Amino acid sequence: MFPISTYKPLTDAIEHASRDELAALQLKRLQGTLRHAYENVPAYRTKFDAAGVHPDDCKTLAELAKFPFTTKADLRDNYPFGMFAVPRERIARIHASSGTTGKPTVVGYTANDIQTWADVVARSLRASGVKPGMIVHVAYGYGLFTGGLGAHYGAEKLGCTVIPISGGMTERQVQLITDFRPDVIMVTPSYMLAILDEFRKVGLDPRASSLQIGVFGAEPWTNAMRQEIETAFDMHAVDIYGLSEVIGPGVANECVETKDGLHIWEDHFYPEIIDPDTGAVLPDGEQGELVFTSLTKEAMPIIRYRTRDLTRLLPGTARSMRRMEKVTGRSDDMMIVRGVNVFPTQIEEMLLALPALSAHYQIVLTREGRMDEMEVKVEARIDHSDAANAAAKQLARQIKDKIGITAWVNVLPPDGIERSQGKAKRIIDKRPRA
Ligand code: DLL
Repeated sequence: MFPISTYKPLTDAIEHASRDELAALQLKRLQGTLRHAYENVPAYRTKFDAAGVHPDDCKTLAELAKFPFTTKADLRDNYPFGMFAVPRERIARIHASSGTTGKPTVVGYTANDIQTWADVVARSLRASGVKPGMIVHVAYGYGLFTGGLGAHYGAEKLGCTVIPISGGMTERQVQLITDFRPDVIMVTPSYMLAILDEFRKVGLDPRASSLQIGVFGAEPWTNAMRQEIETAFDMHAVDIYGLSEVIGPGVANECVETKDGLHIWEDHFYPEIIDPDTGAVLPDGEQGELVFTSLTKEAMPIIRYRTRDLTRLLPGTARSMRRMEKVTGRSDDMMIVRGVNVFPTQIEEMLLALPALSAHYQIVLTREGRMDEMEVKVEARIDHSDAANAAAKQLARQIKDKIGITAWVNVLPPDGIERSQGKAKRIIDKRPRA
């Protein structure tokens, strides 16, 4: 792992702009975006009119709060291309999220949007400590998912050598990491663990690999998981955040020198935190749902998009743009077990503190009569170890003490839990739908 004491970050001037300078730029871009959406997307015009607001009513950044929210349902209702603000001929690229049920969510980009996206991913990579000339192994999925191509264009823009391997074929991932000697890997943290297993399986020391930096995102992961990966590979692990509806990866990224939450690239994406129940805007520092408005997108401007991600906004540290705290979970991932709210990340933090248990886990919810049951399936680091059974008991006790629910911890042998090749599926909810 390279020492941070000698590290010199590469940055754009805007990353160090004063708050006033940034706010002036944001307001100008916001007003332009509201007008663009109102004039070119009938769905926005209808919503603004129904709410009695017009783009001219936004004279300050705070006045954005007068405008209605956009949700996934709006994108579904206008499937496939109804949210586009430019003629279809100007759309250079389409991506879509698979969506577990129903129609996928479709997003579009003009050629300029693709450039903007490459710029914000390049900036994210620089913040991660990546330099031009480095080799970047991209193991995010290529295709309709934004991860692979988003990472790819950004790494190319920065001047890196890109290996577009995509997800899956874990043996080959390890072989190419060994043969091509990449400096950087971009992948989901859960798939990084599968790559780690493969290193060990073939008898290679992951700490001796060429990897120096991992840029991990697309799913929630904890600081405990960061430590697990950093120690295993002797590399820096930084967090990249983004979502298709806003652009893809590269909306926010941690700076390797601080690793203290993700700087939001606020010159392109305007964040708000709202109370998820009332929709009221909350002050910086308070926990709530993250909402984004795009400031520079042409093909699909997005106004006050409710991400469902829970976090809070914090002042800038390594850059002047604000940070978002590491996302602890999506409101959709919040399990309500016997009336108690639980996130998988809470369980992850506890189990990673127990050395006999591995970072591979899944939570299964069932209902016996009227009672919810929670089972935590977790792999032992070493098969048949008494230590793992003792750790399981300890984990159950901690879940009871810290969260307040009785969980059944089931220790499986190594490899007992199916590996993800992209986003991990942490929760299996078998409870009947109400
Ligand atoms: O996951 C884009 C992406 C690709 C981000 C590669 C980072 C790296 P979607 O498939 O639309 O886009 O899923 C977006 O994933 O609302 C969050 O719930 C979750 N997510 C993304 N990054 C993080 C992260 C991509 N760093 C949804 N931490 C978002 C926690 C994340 N959750």
